[in-house]
Amino acid sequence: MTALKNRAAAAVDLAPPPDLPTFAAFAVSRPSEPLPVVESGEEDLLSSSMVPARREAFSRGRAAAHAALRAIHFDRGPILSGSGREPLWPDGATGAISHAAGFGVALVAPAEDTDGVGVDLEELRNVPELWDHVPRPEERSWLGNLEATEREAAMLALFSAKESVFKAFFPRIGSYFGFERASLAPTASGFVGRLADGLDRDYPSHRTFAITSVRSGDLVLTAVILPKTAASGEVSRSGYRDGPALPTSESELEG
Ligand SMILES: CC(C)(COP(=O)(O)OP(=O)(O)OC[C@H]1O[C@@H](n2cnc3c(N)ncnc32)[C@H](O)[C@@H]1OP(=O)(O)O)[C@@H](O)C(=O)NCCC(=O)NCCS
Repeated sequence: MTALKNRAAAAVDLAPPPDLPTFAAFAVSRPSEPLPVVESGEEDLLSSSMVPARREAFSRGRAAAHAALRAIHFDRGPILSGSGREPLWPDGATGAISHAAGFGVALVAPAEDTDGVGVDLEELRNVPELWDHVPRPEERSWLGNLEATEREAAMLALFSAKESVFKAFFPRIGSYFGFERASLAPTASGFVGRLADGLDRDYPSHRTFAITSVRSGDLVLTAVILPKTAASGEVSRSGYRDGPALPTSESELEG
């Protein structure tokens, strides 16, 4: 188990999200490591009907989450799940969990420093059905302009980025929202995204946010740490970069 605080990360098999702000922490539980024992209280979330792979994924996700919380001094008790399956973080902290290919990963931050955190890990594979559900028309257009050899990996990165966006915004919005409600455009470090109007009052469609994307072999990891909206409604910019404006029109993203 390794907790990676900021960029002090040593070289690892699974690269951490790049350019993490200093207040955030990322951790990973690897399939090569002994299976972690879940904390007291968390075992109630494991049912006997769960297949072993799901039990292992849950345990590795929770282990990564505790390691990341320790790195920011917020590891206090079990991490239970809410009615939308979202992790319930200790008071004062927020974060997200993902698991794939035997890895569990978590990204956390003090709640006072961010509006929300998302992370998602995917194993690169061909998933033709994603084309029917994930891309918006403008996303389909930039995907279509890529070399055929890059297109499937870009599709999976887009899917992962939208899952990260979902995890970051779900605790704020409080209900499910679909892939068509966020528009993402590629950047050098991942994506710049924005939400449909009406979904989150503090994130109208003209307010963009960055999603990083990093490849480690056959794994793609995406992450989002939303800038904090100050009480005045102004966005605190310390430690963040805003992405470029998106090509989509406001009307295309209306909720
Ligand atoms: C919830 C969802 C994002 C989980 O992603 P996944 O690829 O299935 O699985 P991952 O391993 O990456 O993540 C699972 C973890 O996500 C977290 N999670 C589940 N539901 C969540 C929610 N509503 N909000 C935040 N986090 C959630 C949990 O920690 C879960 O792990 P756990 O059950 O062991 O605690 C996905 O199942 C889903 O419903 N996606 C559709 C919604 C969406 O992405 N909309 C696009 C918006 S642009």
